[in-house]
Amino acid sequence: MTNPAGYRRPWPGTQPNHLHPPYVASIKRAPSKPLVYLPHTLSEVTGPTFDSSTVDVKAFDLTRQHHGEPLGERIILSGRVLDENGRSVPNTLIEIWQANAAGRYLHKVDQHNAPLDPNFTGCGHTLTDANGQYRFITIRPGEYPWKNHYNAWRPAHIHFSLFGSAFATRLVTQMYFPGDPLLPYDPVFNCTADDKARNRLISQLDWETTQPEHALGYRFDIVLSGRQATPLEK
Ligand SMILES: [Fe+2]
Repeated sequence: MTNPAGYRRPWPGTQPNHLHPPYVASIKRAPSKPLVYLPHTLSEVTGPTFDSSTVDVKAFDLTRQHHGEPLGERIILSGRVLDENGRSVPNTLIEIWQANAAGRYLHKVDQHNAPLDPNFTGCGHTLTDANGQYRFITIRPGEYPWKNHYNAWRPAHIHFSLFGSAFATRLVTQMYFPGDPLLPYDPVFNCTADDKARNRLISQLDWETTQPEHALGYRFDIVLSGRQATPLEK
């Protein structure tokens, strides 16, 4: 059997280099030998696929997973998922995970001396609708320290995982907030050398989805491949 047509590989300049020495973990992770080209096969271009039966319809709202509301600033996060031709990608699974408002993850390896929030787990998921649109309700995550270098602090961010239409278009990345003063100092954000590509990781304040007396809206559109692709996390 001949192999099915594969998806296009990342457009040059849209993705971070494997090696970015200021991000210390990339020194160990980066391949030291030339990459081996692996053609896409049926399993990478045809699945997985998702429908409403595979998701919890309430999982888009991270502020309603416990008895009380989490502490912090409530935000509404939405956007569209697009392919390289600007077409919407419907029914794709989006998962997010994040620190709480104090900058602490509910995870055993997170030992940051900041309080956990009994009303916030920090994980959610949803499917895009027929127009490739998604929406989450959550709280704005806090900045947190990490041990990459002396006095290293991550800017506020939300982790995203998307499958797109198949494994070959899987995207795992981090979304940032506009105007964050830590962005110029963050080795993870700065792994992508190209300014335009890197800035596609920053969400925009969105008056369309901001709700009076309730929550600010932020917009984060995601492009899975092509010249306008959203960079992966390295
Ligand atoms: Fe993080």
